[in-house]
Amino acid sequence: MDMLVSPSPALDREFLAGRYRRNRERSAQLFGLIHPNAFEDRPIPLRHPFVFYAGHLPAFSFLTLNERALQQESIDRRLEKLFERGIDPSSLDAAARLGRSDWPSRAEVEAFGAACDARVYDALAHARLIDPTVPRLVRGQSVYNILEHEQMHHETLTYIIHQLDGAKKGRVEQTHRDTPPPPNHTVRVDAGVATLGADPDEIPFGWDNEFGRTLEQVPAFSIQRYPVTNGDWFAFVSDGGAPPAFWIDRDGSWYLRGVFDEIPLPLSWPVYVTHDQAEAYARWAGMRLPSEVEYHRAAFGTPDGDERPFPWGSDAPGPAHGNFDFQRFDPEPVDAHPAGASAWGVHDLIGNGWEWTSTPFGPFPGFAPMASYPQYSADFFDGKHYVMKGASPVTARELIRRSFRNWFYADYPYMYAKFRCVEV
Ligand code: AVJ
Ligand code: FE
Repeated sequence: MDMLVSPSPALDREFLAGRYRRNRERSAQLFGLIHPNAFEDRPIPLRHPFVFYAGHLPAFSFLTLNERALQQESIDRRLEKLFERGIDPSSLDAAARLGRSDWPSRAEVEAFGAACDARVYDALAHARLIDPTVPRLVRGQSVYNILEHEQMHHETLTYIIHQLDGAKKGRVEQTHRDTPPPPNHTVRVDAGVATLGADPDEIPFGWDNEFGRTLEQVPAFSIQRYPVTNGDWFAFVSDGGAPPAFWIDRDGSWYLRGVFDEIPLPLSWPVYVTHDQAEAYARWAGMRLPSEVEYHRAAFGTPDGDERPFPWGSDAPGPAHGNFDFQRFDPEPVDAHPAGASAWGVHDLIGNGWEWTSTPFGPFPGFAPMASYPQYSADFFDGKHYVMKGASPVTARELIRRSFRNWFYADYPYMYAKFRCVEV
């Protein structure tokens, strides 16, 4: 059995502590990339400075598991409050109001983090982690919350480090491969059923927005075999379209700002754009974005009517299937993973960048906020966030499951989000 999907946390404490430890190590590696003088920098003005995330990760884990689920005593009320929640501001004004200049010292934040970690390890070793009579411990949800929360923030941290000046950060050596982009014709997907979401019994853990399971009948449609590439977008720019935030114009030549390197624009890589930009491209091309159910049909549906757990079948996600799980930081050519193609021959659906859908983020029928983290999804059901599916190069493989849904504002330019179009 896949060691990463342990069905019974109470019986597998070593597995859980190991996963928590690996998360903390990855966080430490990411923080280690930031020059010490840049610890209070805010390379993305709409996000907190790095120092916030250094406190937020262990504070969230401690608050969620020890203090709230297990009703244990606090460590430091002031720091717990300070690091409790991040921001998703819609404007620079809102971000400025949430800004502050009096962050605790790095040493103080790290000592607090170590105290949180010690208490979390203690709980993972000894506490009752599953208890059907305690809402926050039903199916061990608090433990999974802290493990998946930190992994999502590995991605957040990476895209903030991405925007940090090269002189203020370390570098991870990577080779960048660019190959002739394949022709991007559309593929027909037959009419059929898409299953959105999951039932609690089907998966070891899911966030509240993944429940309950709903079946939708989807009419036939034609979708691009590959995501839209930088090469495709270049034609759009030549016709007056806007260049994406990751492109740099150097004396009339386009370069791509990778996480650590600036390289001549790789034409075969997916273009990372906002939802608004993706929509503008689709309109220009006489097409449209796929809806969430259409993504499901293209990714998980099959001509014989069955639905698969992953585009390629039911094998656990591995390096042959796509560019995810920190194999590298930057994209690869859109046709680099034929073994990850879906039953319809649609490529690169999981990995190499999340995929935008035209569907505003919302609840499935029967939605109930989860006891262990009631604000996780519900605060974003505002019609302004759109569903993204799949994974990026820096999405942990534990987050790759059919029901997982990500979401973002339509105009947020720093996400690792790609797209493909559907014929109108
Ligand atoms: C689900 C990725 C949109 O980054 O805002 C982190 C995850 N929630 N801390 C985000 C999250 C609270 C969330 N996304
Ligand atoms: Fe968070």
